Amino acid sequence: MTAIVISGSGLYTPPFAVSNEELVAAFNQYVDLYNEENASAIDAGQLPAKQHSSCEFIEKASGIKSRYLVSREGVLNPDIMQPLLAERPDEMPSIMVEMAVAAAEQALIAAGREPGEIDLVIVAASNMPRPYPALAIELQHYLGASGMAFDMNVACSSATFGIKTAADMLAAGSAKLALVVNPEICSGHLNFRDRDSHFIFGDACTAVLLEREADCKVANPWQLVASKLVTQYSNNIRNNFGFLNRLSPRTRYSDDKLFRQQGRKVFKEVLPLVCDQIANQLDEQGWPADSLSRLWLHQANLTMNQFIGRKLLGHDASQQEAPVILDSYGNTSSAGSIIAFHLYNRDLPVGARGVLCSFGAGYSIGSLLLQRC
Ligand code: COA
Repeated sequence: MTAIVISGSGLYTPPFAVSNEELVAAFNQYVDLYNEENASAIDAGQLPAKQHSSCEFIEKASGIKSRYLVSREGVLNPDIMQPLLAERPDEMPSIMVEMAVAAAEQALIAAGREPGEIDLVIVAASNMPRPYPALAIELQHYLGASGMAFDMNVACSSATFGIKTAADMLAAGSAKLALVVNPEICSGHLNFRDRDSHFIFGDACTAVLLEREADCKVANPWQLVASKLVTQYSNNIRNNFGFLNRLSPRTRYSDDKLFRQQGRKVFKEVLPLVCDQIANQLDEQGWPADSLSRLWLHQANLTMNQFIGRKLLGHDASQQEAPVILDSYGNTSSAGSIIAFHLYNRDLPVGARGVLCSFGAGYSIGSLLLQRC
């Protein structure tokens, strides 16, 4: 089997941090305005009054303290409650491509590579700004890459599914240097008026470069030793926004065209699937759990990550063992586990083993066993 390695990674962090305090203040202002405007219907029992959100709840339920956004002004305006991102003319690079270029440039420097050497570009993310041309082809153009490019969407598992796809194509000889990027503007599909979820997401973009170990120019890359991708249909995380929605002005902007979830059910159903998948994969590979130096887990909820760490390692995982970036980035969908990997891998010695795992809508779970060469 041809050994495939991750030779570089990159991270674009948007310029605007928004704390729980700021987000909750805006949400509560919106609630007060709504309750005032609908006072007579609420008093008559025809409409339920909306309730305030709270920072204490958010931090306790999710572990999130702050998040980075590409635009904060509209999100914090109780009359708007969404990011204000002007549409761009076709001649300009799209905002997701700008984020992707910034992350890709870091990955290229880390791998000692030039953009023109890339011959496979995969943009793997939860949302694409348009159906075509593929964002990946636009990125290929602005980077000056060659070969082929295409988009993939496997929601929160887009990055792991993209990495496995790229690795298989490299092993088959279809490409030599693959770029997988995950530009996530989660604030664009988050319902900032929904008390249960308004705090969940943040924006970010990650990038990794993959190539055959024999071609790799840098010392001590991470070998992709094994990968397992699984999906199982569920409506518990869903977003109905799509190209057929524009036909109905009545429902075009209804709440189901944004992210919504049954958080408790997701929690209960996904956790056992993830724990079993990783445990079986480790067994198949003959890797005892105590031989792992690090878990780079999907960053959706702190309690979820603590549960997985405890179940796999048999004790509470430390920040060293299972780094958490959720507190400062929020849930950045497919970018989350790659952010954890990008920020927390350089300290590990040759031979170190780790698991990078994503899970989310679909359901979809992708787990990768990595070993430092
Ligand atoms: N502020 C204050 N209270 C709130 C609140 C808010 N913003 N949102 C909900 N609450 C209240 C609820 O009304 C409920 O009150 P009740 O017990 O009196 O009915 C209580 O807090 C618990 O609500 P619940 O929705 O059950 O919270 P939770 O503990 O399940 O946490 C999530 C919610 C979403 C953080 C959690 O379920 C989760 O993260 N699940 C997994 C999500 C996930 O991985 N998704 C993948 C997406 S990629």
